[in-house]
Amino acid sequence: MLAKAWAMTKINDLMARGTALLGSEYAILCGAMSWVSERNLVSAISNAGGFGVIACGAMTPELLDAEIAATKALATKPFGVNLITMHPQLFDLVDICAKHGVGHVVLAGGLPPKGSLEAIKASGAKVICFAPTLAMGKKLVRSGVDALVIEGMEAGGHIGPVSTSVLAQEILPTLADEVPVFVAGGIGRGEAIAGYLEMGASGVQLGTRFVCATESIAHPNFKKAFIRASARDAVASVQIDPRLPVIPVRALKNAGTEEFTAKQREVANLLDGGNVDMIEAQLQIEHYWAGALRRAVIDGDVENGSLMAGQSVGMVTSEESVGEIIASLVQQAEAALHTRG
Ligand SMILES: Cc1cc2nc3c(=O)[nH]c(=O)nc-3n(C[C@H](O)[C@H](O)[C@H](O)COP(=O)(O)O)c2cc1C
Repeated sequence: MLAKAWAMTKINDLMARGTALLGSEYAILCGAMSWVSERNLVSAISNAGGFGVIACGAMTPELLDAEIAATKALATKPFGVNLITMHPQLFDLVDICAKHGVGHVVLAGGLPPKGSLEAIKASGAKVICFAPTLAMGKKLVRSGVDALVIEGMEAGGHIGPVSTSVLAQEILPTLADEVPVFVAGGIGRGEAIAGYLEMGASGVQLGTRFVCATESIAHPNFKKAFIRASARDAVASVQIDPRLPVIPVRALKNAGTEEFTAKQREVANLLDGGNVDMIEAQLQIEHYWAGALRRAVIDGDVENGSLMAGQSVGMVTSEESVGEIIASLVQQAEAALHTRG
């Protein structure tokens, strides 16, 4: 009993800066997942003691306005909004977040454009950014971000080239004292959470582990594919044309994986013919992913749609409530801390 109390205190201490920043019971973020991280999952995560984040993705300001309002109606605890930096109406989306008094904005998809950090901070919200390298992390801290996420290539969705374990070793010793750092990518159990906390992280961000939550609106076919899959089924997309740099996406292998190869050829041909410039070519690729993910998550077309999933998918073995998932992650982390302590 005493040992359990010690482990509970220990995890609260290790997460203290993360929970203070987020205003949640546990510093466990559910990373924004396009089409999946909407009002139901986001409010369930926050209400269960974690921190939910709405995925704005390609939503218009009007749609985001409605989604935030609906989430506020369901959530009794704070939640955040994830905005993609390349969204053409980024500043209008920031205004919508400000209108609703959203306390935390996560900026994803590249360096924050000029003026965006200032605009978010002027609304009183905290800004959380992704640090792909130590140098970039230092730069973001100097620009005034309130927290960082470091995400390894084990993650589901768009990924960088470096693994979570290496990023954690490179970035935590230098930046964890400066701002709270949340580690993401490949986390499926609490023992790993305990490990990153002991290395200096203030919390963690998980995506894949929450996709099959009872409260997630993902189509039953999408959830079934996750429950069946193992780590090695979650593969990174391959760039087929050196002239068209595409950000790799990790997803479960299916016919859609081949379709992406065809899509790249089509866009590369447009580029060659001078019909589109590089920015437009890359936007077309991103639109392709958004559509393919919708097909799988919402319509349940798990053959041709995109099954974005991280390598931790093998640890998703059943549909459970968000409360059960968070409780087991915390219990595993506490047990690990107790054994090690
Ligand atoms: C289906 C799916 C969709 C995702 N969509 C987004 C997104 O729209 N924006 C974003 O910043 N990250 C997105 N991610 C990444 C997650 O927010 C999170 O950082 C990642 O899933 C963490 O790694 P894990 O999957 O290994 O837990 C997505 C991940 C998945 C699995």
